[in-house]
Amino acid sequence: MLQVHNVFLLLSFYLISHINPALATDAIDLGRSIYEKGIGRDGREINAMIHGRISLKGAAIACISCHGMDARGGGEAFVQVPDIRWSNLSKLYPARRIGAAKAPYDQSSFSTVVRTGITTADRKLDPVMPRFDLADDEINSLIAYLSSIDQLKSSDQTQFVILGLLPKSGQNALADVLDSKLKNCPATENGSPIAAIDMLYFDTPEDAMIKLNKRLSENTNTLVLVPFLPGWEHQYAKAMRYNNISTVLPFSVLNPPDESNWIFPFPGLESQILTLLKSAKAEGYMQLRIYSEPENLLSLKLSTVAIEMAIEHGMLVIADKSEKKHKQAKIATLWLKQFNSNQINQNSLGDELMLVPAIFINPNQVIDNSQGNSLQKKYIAYPYHPKATENGLWRAPVDVWADAACKFLSLVGEKSINPSKLPEILQWEEDLFLYHRPSFDLLSNQVFIDK
Ligand code: HEC
Repeated sequence: MLQVHNVFLLLSFYLISHINPALATDAIDLGRSIYEKGIGRDGREINAMIHGRISLKGAAIACISCHGMDARGGGEAFVQVPDIRWSNLSKLYPARRIGAAKAPYDQSSFSTVVRTGITTADRKLDPVMPRFDLADDEINSLIAYLSSIDQLKSSDQTQFVILGLLPKSGQNALADVLDSKLKNCPATENGSPIAAIDMLYFDTPEDAMIKLNKRLSENTNTLVLVPFLPGWEHQYAKAMRYNNISTVLPFSVLNPPDESNWIFPFPGLESQILTLLKSAKAEGYMQLRIYSEPENLLSLKLSTVAIEMAIEHGMLVIADKSEKKHKQAKIATLWLKQFNSNQINQNSLGDELMLVPAIFINPNQVIDNSQGNSLQKKYIAYPYHPKATENGLWRAPVDVWADAACKFLSLVGEKSINPSKLPEILQWEEDLFLYHRPSFDLLSNQVFIDK
C-alpha cells in the first residue's frame, strides 16, 4: 500500500515538475505560503486546533513558527519539534528526532498526521502540534514545498552543499579506496549526524570540470571536499578562484595556491622540500645536489623551487654528477625523482645525506627508514605523521585523507556550513591535525621527517 502511494507520489511529482514547470512552482509557492504565513489556497487563512479545543488561524499556526525556517525543527520547548523536510519524513527508518514513528510518510499518512495528529506508528502527537484543516491540494503543495526546501534554502544562501570529486570507479585504485572510506565514515561518538557528501564521478579531468561547473551554476553555496585531480590542480584552482568556491582537504602533491579558499590542506611537495633542506642545514650539510628528471615537468618545477630555497638558506647547489666543491663539506642530495638506492654515488656513500619526499619512494621498497642500509643516511619527508603514536603502525595517505574528510563531515554535521566559521584546527587523532588556512611556514612545520 505504502509503495503504491509512493509510486503515485513519484508519478505526480514527475508530472508536476517535468511536464509543467509552472505548475510545480505554483505548488511550491502555495506550500511555502502555508508553511511561512499560514495562508492557504485563494488567500484564505488556514485553521487549526491546538490542545484539542483552541482554534487558531493563519500566521499564529504557520508551520515555520515551530518547525523553523528550514523545517529542521529543534528542541527549545518541552516537546522536541521534528525535522519535517520531506527528505526526512519519507525516509525508511528515519533519523527523526522523535522516536516513535517507524514507517516513512507518504502523501496519505502525511495528510493524516497533519489533520489528526496520528503518526505512521499510530502514535498521537503531542497536542502542541496543531491539527490542521487543510484540503488535499494544500497538503500536496506542502509536500512539494517540503521536498524543495533544501534547494530553495541553498539558493537563499543559508545552506551549503558539500561536493566530492573523484574519478569513476576502476580508474584509480587510491581514489576507489577513498570513495569507499567516505561512504563508510565511522559514526560520531555522540551519535550526532554526519554531513552528506554529494559525490561527482568523472571520466577525465575535463569531464570533472564540466560536471563541477554545471553543479556550481545551480548552486554557488558549495564547497568541494577532497577533489582528486592529481596533475590538474592548476586548472582546478583556476576554476575555483573564478567561482570563489572553497576547497577542503585537496588531495594534492603540490602546495595549495596561496588563496583564502583552500581549507585544511596537507603540506605539498614544496613544503616538504623546504623542511628537508632546513633539517639538512641544521646538521651542517651546506652543499646540495639535486636528482631530477628532465623529461618530467613536476620534477623540473620542483628542482627550480628547491634551487631557490637552497640559495635563500645559504646552501651551495652543485650539479647532478659533479664532485663536491670542497673536500671537507658535507653533501645532501635531494631526490625529485623515483628514489633508487643503486644509483647513489658510490664514492660519497656514507657521508651523503639523502633527502627524499615520501612520494618518490616506492612504498614496497622502503617503509621503515630504520630498516634500510645503515650506510645510507636518509631523511624522508611526509605530509603528515606517518606512524600512529598509539601502535606505531604505518598510515597510508589515502587513509589519512579519508579520516580527515570523515572528521570534517562529522564536524560540520547537519549544521549549515559557512566555510569562514570552521575551526582553526582540524584534529582527528592525537598527532594528526591541520590548520584552517596555513601559511607556507605553518605548512612546512606540519611536515614530518623520518630520520
Ligand atoms: C505550535 C507548534 C507547531 C506548529 C505551528 C506546527 N507544528 Fe508540526 N509538530 C510540532 C511538534 C511539537 C511536533 C512533535 C509532537 C510530538 O512529538 O508528539 C510536531 C510534529 C509534526 C509532524 C510529525 C513528524 C513525525 O516525524 O512524525 C509533522 C508531519 C508536522 N508536525 C507537520 C507540521 C506542518 C505541516 C505544520 C504547518 C502546517 C506544522 N507541523 C505546524 C509543533 C508544531
